[in-house]
Amino acid sequence: MGVRKYETAEEVPPDMRKLVVKLMVVQADTEFASIQQHRPWLDKAPTLEDRWIEARIVADEARHGLQACRILRDFGEEGQRYIDELLAKREGEHKLDAFNLAFDRWGDVGAFTCFVDRVGVYQLRAFQECSYGPLARAMPLMLSEEQLHLNFGFSVLRRMVKDGSKYYGNSAEAQEAVTKWYPRALDMFGHSNSETSRKAIELGLKRWTNEEARARFIHEVTPLMDSIGVQLPSPEFDRHIL
Ligand SMILES: [Fe+2]
Ligand SMILES: [Fe+2]
Repeated sequence: MGVRKYETAEEVPPDMRKLVVKLMVVQADTEFASIQQHRPWLDKAPTLEDRWIEARIVADEARHGLQACRILRDFGEEGQRYIDELLAKREGEHKLDAFNLAFDRWGDVGAFTCFVDRVGVYQLRAFQECSYGPLARAMPLMLSEEQLHLNFGFSVLRRMVKDGSKYYGNSAEAQEAVTKWYPRALDMFGHSNSETSRKAIELGLKRWTNEEARARFIHEVTPLMDSIGVQLPSPEFDRHIL
């Protein structure tokens, strides 16, 4: 625990190599996809500060995608092939549903960053403790940036509820966005009986089973939504992956 066993891609044993590559492809895909989702709000966000934070988020996600691709690149030709595929992907072609939905309204930006970025943090925390040094060391900065994104998401929802049209929208719009994104965030944890997730825990690339992580997430966001009087739908509502 906490000991970095592998410093180069060549040292990584084959079963772990396969999983690191798979997880980095998913990671990079989500980073690049979210740039496409945020992009329309760079100059449409309600306040000047919001626009600046949107610009920061887009820059952060681009850097996260770059870091995941650097790790892929270390795995040689196979990794490079994946990078080429990732860079060619357009809106609607991404692996996870949450990243194929457009941010039609500003509330989408708030709920997405509050929930979907928060799910990402669960995976990054596990990478931080994994035995592959280059991956583990990329995490602290990524985690601190994600923290900014999810705090921002919550503040958008809070301001929509508390300040209403003085800021943007109203509490009904915030509620609608939460109802739209919460099920997509819960889906991101993956199937409850996932073989990949079991293997990932065994190899130290995940901390909890998908179901445990999902339960922790629900426990984390419930008081947040309570504090602004927004209702979370039931965990079974509108789910695609169970
Ligand atoms: Fe990110
Ligand atoms: Fe993020």
